[in-house]
Amino acid sequence: MANHGCLALCQSGFEHLLVREMGSVGAAASASGPGWVTAAASEAAPLRGAAFAHALLDVEVVAEGERVNEIAQRIADFFAASLVGERVEGAWPCVFGAGQDVAGLGRRVAAVEAAFRDILKKRLGRVAKLASAQRPRVGAARGLFVWFTDFGRAHVARSAYLCGPCRMADDDSAPSRSYLKVEESYAIIGREPGPGEIVCDLGAAPGGWSYSAAKRGARVVAVDNGPLKGGALANPLIEHRREDAFGFSPAGGAAYDWLFCDMLEDPRRVLQAVLSPWLRGGWCRRFIVNLKFGRVDPIELLGDLRSAGSALSTHARGARIVHLYHDREEFTVTGSLPP
Ligand SMILES: C[S@@+](CC[C@H](N)C(=O)[O-])C[C@H]1O[C@@H](n2cnc3c(N)ncnc32)[C@H](O)[C@@H]1O
Repeated sequence: MANHGCLALCQSGFEHLLVREMGSVGAAASASGPGWVTAAASEAAPLRGAAFAHALLDVEVVAEGERVNEIAQRIADFFAASLVGERVEGAWPCVFGAGQDVAGLGRRVAAVEAAFRDILKKRLGRVAKLASAQRPRVGAARGLFVWFTDFGRAHVARSAYLCGPCRMADDDSAPSRSYLKVEESYAIIGREPGPGEIVCDLGAAPGGWSYSAAKRGARVVAVDNGPLKGGALANPLIEHRREDAFGFSPAGGAAYDWLFCDMLEDPRRVLQAVLSPWLRGGWCRRFIVNLKFGRVDPIELLGDLRSAGSALSTHARGARIVHLYHDREEFTVTGSLPP
């Protein structure tokens, strides 16, 4: 099949930053719209580590049409042809989607998806039964991925790379929406705090991140002058210290299992006065640090983080910088330290 290139998805409103980030790694965008950027197929590999990319679709066909059935038929024809020589033995992801900015586009996508599934059921009943609308979480995936950039334009891929960002379920006892960011980060790292572990949460109030760790059985030292609330307030696993997080370090050189940091502060100050000493000192085994880029250039900040001499490059393993589904003008840095 012909390759139409790479469709990179991002959070809507941040496509200009994905375009700039691509430029900083030498990849050129060919077009962009709300929540998406296209590039040549050859640019896809370096984009896997792009902070602003949420998913990368290896687009083989752009199905265009005025009517729902027409688009569904084109997708089904492509899909059936692409299956030649391939055995489908288990569940496969069949994911249809679109950005949320175009009014009514969601209904259009649902109608095309339903029409496509009907056609597939008639043509390839066994394959249709194994289709799963569940989007894989992270890594390379094979199945069918269809993304609408307009009412009459669907980008169709058999392969996709999921960078990790994903909408998370809320918890009524969580005292803040920030809770969703740390929950989302666990899945990206592939680890979460647990019983027997100890977490240092800098800039903890009102306590969403601390609550998230405590509900998994970890003990938390929550550092913030502000009050804890909801499920973090009077939680027996959470010790609240009303202190300035910039001067905070582990007592007696003992390391924490996790450093959490979600401080509303200048991100460069957080890098210099928190992340660097914590990584250099080996004061934690894993870290999740959120940097607010509202007042700085995020692409320059990414450049600093990724530069050869940065504390992240020098001391961390498996570091990821991700603009999470639940991040706004901020991104989240995760990683671990060598044992
Ligand atoms: C976005 S909120 C953190 C939300 C928290 N992660 C949650 O899940 O509820 C930012 C917090 O950083 C705290 N903060 C800012 N500067 C700080 C400092 N120097 N020391 C301690 N906390 C600080 C603020 O008091 C505020 O509570």
